[in-house]
Amino acid sequence: MAVDIIPAQVTDIQQVLADHPRYWGDRDLRSLHLLALVREFGSTCLVARADDGIRGYLIGFVTPDGTGYVHLIATRDDTRGTGLGRALWGAFTEAARKQGAVRLKAITSVTNEGSVAFHRGLGFEAHVEDDYDGPGRPMVVFTRALPAAP
Ligand SMILES: CC(C)(COP(=O)(O)OP(=O)(O)OC[C@H]1O[C@@H](n2cnc3c(N)ncnc32)[C@H](O)[C@@H]1OP(=O)(O)O)[C@@H](O)C(=O)NCCC(=O)NCCS
Repeated sequence: MAVDIIPAQVTDIQQVLADHPRYWGDRDLRSLHLLALVREFGSTCLVARADDGIRGYLIGFVTPDGTGYVHLIATRDDTRGTGLGRALWGAFTEAARKQGAVRLKAITSVTNEGSVAFHRGLGFEAHVEDDYDGPGRPMVVFTRALPAAP
């Protein structure tokens, strides 16, 4: 079945929110799904759409100093391990590069071992930043340089 990775619409993210556990399990991250990000950073917010619905998505943007930052990425529970997460990051990278990104960045909670393994597999450096989310609230920070396109 064909999967298209395309810019996300607000209605796509509303659909994701309705099926939230399929993407995030027991963790409730609904409040992080800011629709304003999708409205204002449309070309770097992506959904992977197939005949059976939204298989995965990514919400990201490029900062003024050239960091392609992914705020959220998730693939649906029945699509994991098929390369879709990698493909979403790849599509984001190309979109971010067009906007002048020279590095990539994302964060995850220190307990999210799957996310750490996934991002390391994609070539990111991972380090724990102790007070990233406020005093005593560490996060894992992923970074990767983004060379100019050949
Ligand atoms: C993390 C997540 C996005 C990965 O998506 P995915 O579609 O399963 O990833 P892919 O199939 O593209 O995997 C890419 C590589 O990462 C590795 N990988 C992915 N998840 C992994 C895991 N849990 N443990 C170890 N390795 C993992 C794969 O083995 C693969 O390596 P390879 O290309 O060398 O074979 C997905 O598991 C998910 O949605 N998790 C819940 C939401 C979440 O935690 N998001 C990240 C926090 S921001």
